[in-house]
Amino acid sequence: MKFLTDDEVASLVDPVKVVEAVERAYILYSTGRVVMPVRSRVENREHGGDILMMPCLVPDMGIFSLKLVTVYPRNLEKSLPTINATVIALDASTGLPRLVAEARALTGLRTAAATTVSIKHLARRDFTRVGIIGTGYQARWQLRVVAANYPYTIFKAYDIDSKRLNEFVAEMGRLGHDVKPSPTAEELVRWSDVVITVTTSKQPVVLKSWVKEGTHISAIGGYTPEMVEIEPALVANSKLVVDSREAVREEAGDILKPIELGLMRFEDIYAEIGEIAAGLKPGRTDEREITVFKSVGLAVQDAATAKLLIDYLMTR
Ligand SMILES: NC(=O)c1ccc[n+]([C@@H]2O[C@H](COP(=O)([O-])OP(=O)(O)OC[C@H]3O[C@@H](n4cnc5c(N)ncnc54)[C@H](O)[C@@H]3O)[C@@H](O)[C@H]2O)c1
Repeated sequence: MKFLTDDEVASLVDPVKVVEAVERAYILYSTGRVVMPVRSRVENREHGGDILMMPCLVPDMGIFSLKLVTVYPRNLEKSLPTINATVIALDASTGLPRLVAEARALTGLRTAAATTVSIKHLARRDFTRVGIIGTGYQARWQLRVVAANYPYTIFKAYDIDSKRLNEFVAEMGRLGHDVKPSPTAEELVRWSDVVITVTTSKQPVVLKSWVKEGTHISAIGGYTPEMVEIEPALVANSKLVVDSREAVREEAGDILKPIELGLMRFEDIYAEIGEIAAGLKPGRTDEREITVFKSVGLAVQDAATAKLLIDYLMTR
C-alpha cells in the first residue's frame, strides 16, 4: 500500500484524464452502478470543527474509497488550513488497502473536473471567457483544470477580499495563466460566457439581471442549506443540472431557496450531469439558453480520482 502527499497527488494526476474519470464516475452514479451512502457528519463542538465521512463503492472500477474531510474554521488562528482531507482506497474484490493519500489536492482536482464536465455538456461551443468568483483554494484548481482542457480560454476573477484576489492573480500569473482582476462581480458576470462560483457566501454573488443569454454557470461553493451563491430567480429560470438529486435535496441552498420561495419545484431540475453524459438526455440544445450546474460534491468523484492514482502507481 502506498501513501501519497498532496504534492505527489498534484504531480501525478493529469488534468485531462481526471475530467474523463469524473465524467465516467457521474455516468456510473446516475445509472445506478455505485453504492454511495449520503455523507455523514460528526460535529466536534469542543473545537468548533466538522468531520465529514464520504464512502463509495464503485464495482466497475474495482474500488471502495472513504474520504474524511475536516472543516475547522478556528484553525486560521493557528495558521493551519481550515479544510483538510484524507482518502483511503481499497481493492473492492478483496478489501485489501491500496492507497492512503492526503486529499486536499485530490478534492481540488475532482471538483474542478466537475466544472469541466459541465462545461463540456452545457457551455456554448464557442465560449472563450471564463469568470471565477471567489479566489480561494478551490479556485486555483478550477482555473488550472479548465485551462488545461480548454487552452484558448481567457480568465477574469473577482473576490470580495481584494488582497486574496491580487494574490490569486499573481500566483496564477507565475504559473503562466493570464487572469485579469474584475472590480465587481457584476462586471465579471456581464463579461463572461462561463461563470464559476467558488465562494463560501450565504448571499447571492450572481444576479439574474447581470447574466446574458447563452451563459453557463457552475455553482460549486455552497454545500449546506444556508449557503446560496446564485440568485433564486436565476436558478428557477435556467436549465438546471445537478450532480445528484438526492444530495442537492439535502445540502444545496441554491436549489432549496428558490423552492422555498415558490419559484420552482424540485421536479424542475432538468437532469443529473451523469444522465446527460450517458446520453440519456441532451445537454445544451439552444445557443441562447442559460444553464446552471449545481454540485455539492460526491464521493464517487473521489473514488474515480483515487483509482487514477492507483493506476498511475501500478504502471511506474
Ligand atoms: N462542490 C464541491 O464539490 C466542493 C468541493 C470542495 C469545496 N467546496 C466548497 O467551495 C467553497 C470554497 O472552498 P475553498 O476551499 O476555495 O474556500 P476558501 O475559503 O479558500 O475560498 C473562498 C473564497 O471565497 C471568497 N468569498 C466569500 N464570500 C464572497 C462573496 N460574497 N463574493 C466574492 N467572494 C467571496 C473568500 O474571500 C475566499 O477568497 C467552500 O464553501 C467549500 O466547502 C465545494
